[in-house]
Amino acid sequence: MAFRVKSITSFGDLKGLLVIHDATWDKSTGILDLLRSSTSCYLVVDDSEKVCAYAFIEVDAGAGGFAELNDIAVDPEYRGRGLGRLLMQRIMHDFGWVKLLASASKPELLDFYKDMGFHQEGVFENYYGVDEDAIRFSWKKSNA
Ligand SMILES: CC(C)(COP(=O)(O)OP(=O)(O)OC[C@H]1O[C@@H](n2cnc3c(N)ncnc32)[C@H](O)[C@@H]1OP(=O)(O)O)[C@@H](O)C(=O)NCCC(=O)NCCS
Repeated sequence: MAFRVKSITSFGDLKGLLVIHDATWDKSTGILDLLRSSTSCYLVVDDSEKVCAYAFIEVDAGAGGFAELNDIAVDPEYRGRGLGRLLMQRIMHDFGWVKLLASASKPELLDFYKDMGFHQEGVFENYYGVDEDAIRFSWKKSNA
């Protein structure tokens, strides 16, 4: 099976990413905030154009030049097959400087970002709720 990265080009793409968002974040209405605040969205599709992963990016001109990864999710059936890495590599190639927040209570997620070359910049205590800290990660291309 071959996978490729693309942007949203059809209503089917939008529905496909919504299915993954619902499965990952328990039908949270946070998708509306993601659509409002993000400036671009990357998808991974398979040979049949099925959406297998997505990532939302926000570039705020006043924020200092980095791209914020607002959300990334891979269809649960496709996790652990390199699609998250594929998306991150494309985003890192396109932006050169990327920051994100990740839950401190998900060690496998922290490993994922460290494996991608991100380093911990700080901790936002109780960011997601009581005793639910967020880790601030950053990655910058060496000559960016
Ligand atoms: C986090 C997520 C995007 C990773 O995508 P993925 O396609 O499953 O990850 P990949 O298969 O591309 O893995 C890439 C690398 O990350 C590391 N990694 C991935 N999952 C890991 C795990 N459970 N434990 C340790 N390392 C892991 C591995 O080192 C892997 O390297 P390898 O390819 O050499 O094995 C995906 O698991 C997901 O959608 N999770 C739920 C949503 C979420 O938490 N999003 C983050 C919002 S901040």
